Amino acid sequence: MNISVFASGRGSNFQSIVSACKKGELPARIVVLITNRADAGARDIAMKEQIPSVHISRNQFASDDEYSRHLLTTLKQYNTEYIALAGYLKKIPAEIVREYRYRILNIHPALLPLFGGSGMYGHHVHEAVLASGMKVSGATVHFVDEEYDRGPILIQQCVPIDRNDSVKTLAAKVLKVEHTIYPLALKALAEQRVIIEGTKAWIID
Ligand code: GRF
Repeated sequence: MNISVFASGRGSNFQSIVSACKKGELPARIVVLITNRADAGARDIAMKEQIPSVHISRNQFASDDEYSRHLLTTLKQYNTEYIALAGYLKKIPAEIVREYRYRILNIHPALLPLFGGSGMYGHHVHEAVLASGMKVSGATVHFVDEEYDRGPILIQQCVPIDRNDSVKTLAAKVLKVEHTIYPLALKALAEQRVIIEGTKAWIID
């Protein structure tokens, strides 16, 4: 299974996916890293891991159309079968969602459908979770549709919230879980153990 990874930042999830492939835990090949930021830390990981990386951002193009066509051409050029969004902060153009329907996954650092949507990223998510008084948070891997953080949920895992948790400690607990469940979700896809029933997705043994 050929996976293209999209990332905007440091790339620790990208690294966990690459490591799972290298250890033989994930039967897949990471064919390219696509970033919208030239300075994304994920690009250093790609270089170290000898994975091609491509910088594509909307402002390199005259129109939305040209931009999404270029993204699509790049994905095809690398024979992309699946897409993993790993801390990618831009919306995926609708044309690409259509072309790769149920073949794009995203990871979110909270238990969707709570604490998701536009503007809910990074520390904003953990701040909102802590402010809510909830006693658990967690990570969610879900399919991507046309709206932020909305498609069918594939895997979730909880972490407990303690009285003395801060944004930093909560983010660290959630990130640890992210690094486990994202490779597992991709493995289930690679092994064709995923079924989609309307708005729900299930992993079968
Ligand atoms: C993660 O918390 C992920 O859930 C969110 O963005 C963050 C990316 O972190 N979508 P990293 O770049 O993978 O380290």
